[in-house]
Amino acid sequence: MNRCGLLPVVLNLGILISGRGSNMDAILTAIKSEKIRNVKPRVVISSKPDVAGLKVASEKHGVPIEVIPGQSLKGWDYDQKLVEALKRHGVVPETGLVCLAGFMRIISPEFVRAFRMRILNIHPALLPSFPGLHAQRQALEYGAKVTGCTVHFVDEGVDSGPVILQKAVPVLDADTEETLSDRILLQEHELYPEAVRLIAEGKIRIEGRAVSVLR
Ligand code: GRF
Repeated sequence: MNRCGLLPVVLNLGILISGRGSNMDAILTAIKSEKIRNVKPRVVISSKPDVAGLKVASEKHGVPIEVIPGQSLKGWDYDQKLVEALKRHGVVPETGLVCLAGFMRIISPEFVRAFRMRILNIHPALLPSFPGLHAQRQALEYGAKVTGCTVHFVDEGVDSGPVILQKAVPVLDADTEETLSDRILLQEHELYPEAVRLIAEGKIRIEGRAVSVLR
């Protein structure tokens, strides 16, 4: 057993999306090709109906999907519906892992506490630089020469949880928000499945907010 208590048993995976779901696709593809073992995708939940990611989850990967709309619901009022749906599909804190993959909502402290160190997120910058929305635009406007992507545990703050893996991406003089986003996204598709694999294999150790990878 490693110190963060994530046992290398089968993890029941829930993925939360709001859009195209390319990171979700990368994770599900890595599971299908057995680059990631010991992870069972149980459900993909979208906060928006009719998004492309739902079709990919269902038709390409055969994963059950749910839509939980709720523009008017905030915080725990919405998140308890998420937790109910996750549990209904077997994603519980003891054996579950929840991946936020372009999920365009702030997670409530109650949800974080219920699934402490069981929720991951991917952010298109090298945190703690450029948290929040439009991270790639922020990097360009700042004039950063290097940016990238970060997979981190979700805590009660916004993009502030312990960092698991990061990958740097150079900012080129000719970059637009779109070209930079595209290059970062390619790295995201490597980094997120790798983080899930390491967790599933029990290779992540957490001390305070320092995460180390056991090779
Ligand atoms: C990615 O850029 C991710 O870093 C951010 O939202 C975007 C989601 O893209 N959190 P996709 O839906 O996974 O294609």
